Amino acid sequence: MQLTTILAALAAAASVSAHFTVTTPPSRGFDELIEDQAPCGGFNTPSTTRTTFGKDSNVTIRLADDSATTTVRIGYGSNPKKFKSLVGSASFTSKGVYNIPFNLHKVPRSQSGKPATVQITISGDDGVLYQCSDVILKL
Ligand SMILES: *[C@@H]1O[C@H](CO)[C@@H](O)[C@H](O)[C@H]1NC(C)=O
Repeated sequence: MQLTTILAALAAAASVSAHFTVTTPPSRGFDELIEDQAPCGGFNTPSTTRTTFGKDSNVTIRLADDSATTTVRIGYGSNPKKFKSLVGSASFTSKGVYNIPFNLHKVPRSQSGKPATVQITISGDDGVLYQCSDVILKL
């Protein structure tokens, strides 16, 4: 009985700690308790600093789930609410640090030099989780 209680507590703790973080480009903010809030994991205000983002950039995540499908989308403007361009996706089958492959060919050239937000999602053990990184596009 007591062992069952301990195991249940451990399982709950494990499920809370399962998440992902985005290291590159720098995330707007991370809080695992609200990471399931669309579209930016509970962070609705853009960063005051933006990194340059182009085809040679990396989207690097640290995945704490054993399996997840990830997507990379781009929304245009200084505080987009919609992320129209799906530019990358990949599935991973173990915890770790990964670069998600992406391709900016479909991003309009006219957006070069302009602010945008990269939205990264994972769909895994905890449902869909969200992170956003604010950037200036360099196409
Ligand atoms: C992107 O990641 C690869 C592999 O980790 C690394 O070799 C490369 O230098 C990175 N590119 C940039 C622009 O940081």
